Amino acid sequence: MTPRPSTVSAVEPMTMRRTMGRFATGVAVVTTSSGGVPHGMTVNSLTSVSLTPPLLLVCLTLGARTTDAVTATGRFAINILSARQEHLALRFAKPGADHFAGLDIIHGRHQVPIIPDAFAHLECTVERHFVAGDHLVVIGEVLEACERDGEPLGFLGGRFSTVTDRGHEPAQWFF
Ligand SMILES: Cc1cc2nc3c(=O)[nH]c(=O)nc-3n(C[C@H](O)[C@H](O)[C@H](O)COP(=O)(O)O)c2cc1C
Repeated sequence: MTPRPSTVSAVEPMTMRRTMGRFATGVAVVTTSSGGVPHGMTVNSLTSVSLTPPLLLVCLTLGARTTDAVTATGRFAINILSARQEHLALRFAKPGADHFAGLDIIHGRHQVPIIPDAFAHLECTVERHFVAGDHLVVIGEVLEACERDGEPLGFLGGRFSTVTDRGHEPAQWFF
């Protein structure tokens, strides 16, 4: 009898990608520095996990240079991109490229590279990480958080998008 593969799924990877693509997100770049070399990767798998302590979560492809650098250093920054930074989302999504060539960066208080003029950035230490399927789930404890005025970059249905404010406050319970 042929052994069953350990993972059997009726949902194909492209179906998964397309369907989850209906969940509108922002776009961020995870940055870190390992042995003096900066690394970065565009992500949209970012979510807040806890307020006390402040924790966030991001899923990074196994084997990517940035993934290995994040686990090696135990530190990273999340740079939430503004609507004017689509070019940076593309730059940091290009596999194998020298993502930082000619790019000005700021050094954060916790030895991580920060992208100037991002819509927001957060500096984190790795609280824990674990493998889930083909990604590494990284939970970061936030040490520093900074916001700026402007408009965020959005991502929906595999395309960059704008995020518009509907002009009314969320329900009271949100705060
Ligand atoms: C909008 C967008 C969102 C992405 N989100 C993720 C993500 O959450 N996790 C991930 O591992 N890769 C994500 N990617 C793909 C990586 O950015 C890409 O594979 C990266 O360049 C690999 O970096 P490397 O050169 O270090 O291997 C995303 C790409 C785009 C354009």
